[in-house]
Amino acid sequence: MNEFLIGPFAQVLTMNRLPLDGPLLDSQLEILTDAGVVIRDGVIREIGRYNDLSKRPLPRHEIATPTVLLPGFVDAHTHICFAGSRARDYALRLSGLTYQEIAAKGGGIQDTVRYTRAASSHELEESLVARTKRLLARGVTTCEVKSGYGLSIEEEIKILEVIDRVGKSQPITLVPTCLAAHVRPPEFDSNSEYLTYIIEGLLPQVIQRNLSRRVDIFVEKGAFFPEESLIYLKAAAKMGFDICIHADQFSRGGAQLAAEVGALSADHLEQSLEEDFEALKKSGTFPIVLPGASMGLGMPYAPARQILNLGLPLVIASDWNPGSAPMGYLLAEAALMGMAEKLTIAETFAAITVRASRALRLTDRGTLTVGQRADMVGFPTGNYQEILYYQGSLQPSLVYANGQPIYNDI
Ligand code: NIG
Ligand code: FE
Repeated sequence: MNEFLIGPFAQVLTMNRLPLDGPLLDSQLEILTDAGVVIRDGVIREIGRYNDLSKRPLPRHEIATPTVLLPGFVDAHTHICFAGSRARDYALRLSGLTYQEIAAKGGGIQDTVRYTRAASSHELEESLVARTKRLLARGVTTCEVKSGYGLSIEEEIKILEVIDRVGKSQPITLVPTCLAAHVRPPEFDSNSEYLTYIIEGLLPQVIQRNLSRRVDIFVEKGAFFPEESLIYLKAAAKMGFDICIHADQFSRGGAQLAAEVGALSADHLEQSLEEDFEALKKSGTFPIVLPGASMGLGMPYAPARQILNLGLPLVIASDWNPGSAPMGYLLAEAALMGMAEKLTIAETFAAITVRASRALRLTDRGTLTVGQRADMVGFPTGNYQEILYYQGSLQPSLVYANGQPIYNDI
């Protein structure tokens, strides 16, 4: 049995007892002061006053610097299993071309597909491991990862296998999603032919080999239309997949489709209107907004304030990918969007902890309470307000994943 006490923490933001939906005030945050956490076998066994807990004869991890502790961050939307760089796209965007114009010229996603197909499993694995290390150092202990740069049965399986192996070998939790329906690969002449090929040849294998329980599709002009997506998603749902949709990034349609199929999440939502959010609310679909894509493309943010005011459970994710969102820094992106959209600190933290966990169907994390996984991130300050205030420049001084110290520079 591996049991120890860690503390004292100046403040612990437990994220406990917060409503899952709608606006939050900072006064609703449960903040424990001079607190300690007892961890056994990767799980939080006790949490409370450090002075009381330290009377027990337990091994201690003592913290010398004032530290604020939070649940480990959950990044609920990324595409971090890829090869190559799209710095050329970036330069083209700076010259005035749009994301879609670059894609139409054969750049964009298809470029990353060429690099990723050419990479060996070993190369992909090495780069994914490096990215998970960067995520952990920045406090992300759970990360969703999409395939989608293979676009054939073999290449999508290759990517999902890499994600599976890295998830098993590294301390971060990876949640894999099959995004074979990202765009149509050049080998196919029609979208419907390609989607049928995926439904018949890939999805059954993915389920059988337990490589993912989630499918995603890019519903957009230049990717997949809502009508053909509906057929695809119905088939996937029948096989037992949870549904996520890249929705309303450049044009509307995806959010309504997400509501129609009862998707778990609708992600992006930059163009969505009130009626789209009302539909998502009715279907119990999580809205996941992706400020990193707005920053990467120089476009407006999704209306996060409006989403909360309408009573939905806002989730913020990084969308880390080589094209539209190369920054991949969840905390900084959440802080910057929080200022632009006037989100409270409680709303921003909930959007990258407890609400993000629920959007991935994970109930064993997201709060610091007895029985939860000991996934924790600490910052070297005595005041929780300073974390977002520094907009990402205050870096974690302590990260634990499943009760294991990953990073501890105190
Ligand atoms: O979420 N919109 C589609 N997919 C990604 C971008 C992927 C890429 O450009 O490589 C996104 O922004
Ligand atoms: Fe994305």
